[in-house]
Amino acid sequence: MATRAATLTIGDKKIDLPVTVGSEGEAAIDIAKLRAETGHITYDPAYGNTGACQSAITFIDGDKGYLRYRGIPIEQLADKSDFIETAFLLIFGHLPSRAERARFDGRLAADAHIHEAFKHHFEGFPSDAPPMAILSAMINTAACFATVTYADPDTHDPEAFEEAAARLISKVRTIAAYTYRMTKGLPYIYPDPKLPYVANFLHMMFSMPCAPYEVHKEVEDALALILLLHADHEQNCSTSTVRMVGSSKANLFASCAAGVCALWGPLHGGANVEVLEMLDTIHKGGVTAEQYLEQVKQKKVLLYGFGHRVYKNFDPRAKILKESSDKVLAKLGVKDPLLDIARRLEELALKDSYFVDRKLYPNVDFYSGIIMKAIGIPVNMFTVLFAIGRMPGWIAQWKEQRDEPGGRIARPRQIYVGPAKTDYVPLESRG
Ligand code: ACO
Repeated sequence: MATRAATLTIGDKKIDLPVTVGSEGEAAIDIAKLRAETGHITYDPAYGNTGACQSAITFIDGDKGYLRYRGIPIEQLADKSDFIETAFLLIFGHLPSRAERARFDGRLAADAHIHEAFKHHFEGFPSDAPPMAILSAMINTAACFATVTYADPDTHDPEAFEEAAARLISKVRTIAAYTYRMTKGLPYIYPDPKLPYVANFLHMMFSMPCAPYEVHKEVEDALALILLLHADHEQNCSTSTVRMVGSSKANLFASCAAGVCALWGPLHGGANVEVLEMLDTIHKGGVTAEQYLEQVKQKKVLLYGFGHRVYKNFDPRAKILKESSDKVLAKLGVKDPLLDIARRLEELALKDSYFVDRKLYPNVDFYSGIIMKAIGIPVNMFTVLFAIGRMPGWIAQWKEQRDEPGGRIARPRQIYVGPAKTDYVPLESRG
């Protein structure tokens, strides 16, 4: 990693700050000594200019629309890999050998069940409880049933870590399916160890004790693609949350449960639900696509599924999903008017100066909801599916941070703008 220096002048003081350059040429001014040497801190609300870590997991070039996991372009992975292989790549840094893949698959199959006591936990929730709230709570619950310290940040045993990663990836899918069954008052369906990851999820979601769900290849492939495309996205809001929580040496499960809560928000993973609701509102005749875009431009509403902090070009995941949505809907013979509305909104937005000038393009959430709807995933489960997909990324980032020598607890500073020292006023004197 090459380094050069930047010079900062504050009043009559000058200091040299090292410049760190990443493997793709991104340069960062290292300000670790700034406060000690100048008494100043940096101010960067929403962290738009702040690199909080060095990471070898995911590379994004937002101007060119590149996304790579461990150096491999997302397009190649989408075409040739599968979700579990990609998860392994992200977490362990290389594509698995046959033996590694077989071992990891074996762990996923063995770890798919959840403790019977979970049923009582599920029953404690009202049937209309938000699935993301249940998911986060249940990931922490799963950690309570762990009798080994595999998720402990101080455990560096690679076998134990692989077991922890497999457990979390496997159980989160069972928890998600059970959540859906509970909200619908349907019997829980046990995981089938013979089924691969995505097929097993669909089985637990949609089988009945007397009528096993027939997993259609198109549906399985479409969902697997969505999970793969969501598997990591470097230091976004939820991943930074996982790292922030993990920096306090919270265990893997607790850190990822926090990630679920961050992902839930409508500006982040929750946008896939908002997109569907927006398209539905337009479809039901509340407004036309043109009228909706007018409201967007007047800043009354957001065009959900558009815009990104990093991509100032097409989100490569959205490109892949747009193609996939055409194919899946055609194969399943689904005619969804919402897809036509989405296409119309995209067409209008891409030539409108409001969006062009601000470099706003469709993001991954714009088409994922349409595909999930077409394959029968209930809308309130969309963000849960995002969380299942993102789990390998969170695990990889938690591990990378844990393995870093000399890691410190994350602790941003602030610029205090409240009142100066003020004396306490007793109640009787307050009027
Ligand atoms: N609709 C309308 N205007 C938008 C949108 C949008 N979707 N996104 C950004 N803008 C506008 C902003 O209002 C701002 O306008 P201004 O210059 O007049 O003030 C300008 O574009 C620049 O946007 P930023 O504020 O810099 O965008 P930021 O990086 O803070 O936010 C975000 C990114 C949250 C994704 C934003 O684009 C957004 O709210 N999008 C809609 C929600 C969404 O789809 N989220 C999913 C993101 S992908 C993911 O998390 C998986």
